[in-house]
Amino acid sequence: MLKIALSKGRIFDETLPLLAQAGIVPLDNPEKSRKLILDTNDPEVKLVIIRATDVPTYVEYGAADLGVAGKDVLMEYGSEGLYEPVDLKIAQCRLMTAGFVDKPAPTHGRLRIATKYVNTAQRFFAEKGIQVEVIKLYGSMELAPLVGLADCIVDVVDTGNTLRANGLAPLEHIAHISSRLVVNKAAMKMKHAQVKLLIQQLQAAVDSRG
Ligand code: ATP
Ligand code: PRP
Repeated sequence: MLKIALSKGRIFDETLPLLAQAGIVPLDNPEKSRKLILDTNDPEVKLVIIRATDVPTYVEYGAADLGVAGKDVLMEYGSEGLYEPVDLKIAQCRLMTAGFVDKPAPTHGRLRIATKYVNTAQRFFAEKGIQVEVIKLYGSMELAPLVGLADCIVDVVDTGNTLRANGLAPLEHIAHISSRLVVNKAAMKMKHAQVKLLIQQLQAAVDSRG
C-alpha cells in the first residue's frame, strides 16, 4: 500500500493530471467529499488529504509514504528528514519580501516582519546582517503593513495582484518556488520498487510537458 499526502486546492488540482499520467485516478473529489483518505483506481494507492503545511510532517514520520509540498513549505520545515526526488514544476510562484515602496526603514528598533515563514525570514535577514523582529501570522499577511503591525512581509507572490490591491509592492526576491514530490526515507528502502516506479512515472509526466 502507498499513501500519498496532498493538500486540497491548488496542489491537489495541479497534481491530479500528473498522477493520471502515472495511471493513478482518485475515486472521490476532496472539494465534495468530507473523506480524508481517498481511494484511487489502484487498490494499492490511497491519497491522504491534509493541510499544505502538514505534508512534510506526515511524510517524515511515515504516516504517508510520499507527498507533494511547495518549496516554501519545505524551506520552512527543514527538509533534511525527507527525500525530494522530483520538481513537479506546479504551483509556481516567488517567495518575496514586500511592503510600501518608499517607506524608510525604522530609525529606532528592529524592522518588523510579518509572515508565516518565520524560520525562512529569520535566515534571510540574518544572512544580510539585518536584525529583525519576526511576527508569526497564519494568513492575510498583506494586511500587516496596512495596519501598522509590521514594516514588511515575507510571502509568496504570483501575479502580484494581491500586493497591488493593497498598495504594496514586491521588494526582494528570496526564492523561486514550485512544488516537489517528497518521499519518506524508510519507504524509499522498504517499498523501493513501488516508490521508484512512481518517481519515474511522475518525472516522465513532468518532462513530457517540456
Ligand atoms: P494552508 O491551507 O495550510 O494555510 P496554503 O493556503 O498556503 O496552506 P495553498 O494556497 O493551497 O495552501 O498553497 C499551496 C502551495 O502553493 C504553497 O505552499 C505555495 O508553494 C504555492 N502557492 C501559494 N500561493 C500561490 C499562488 N498564488 N500562485 C502559485 N502558487 C502558489
Ligand atoms: C497566496 C499568497 C498571496 C497570493 C499571491 O494566497 O498568500 O496572498 O496567493 O498571489 P498573487 O501574487 O497572484 O496575488 P492564496 O490565493 O493561496 O490564498 P491563501 O491566503 O488562502 O493561501
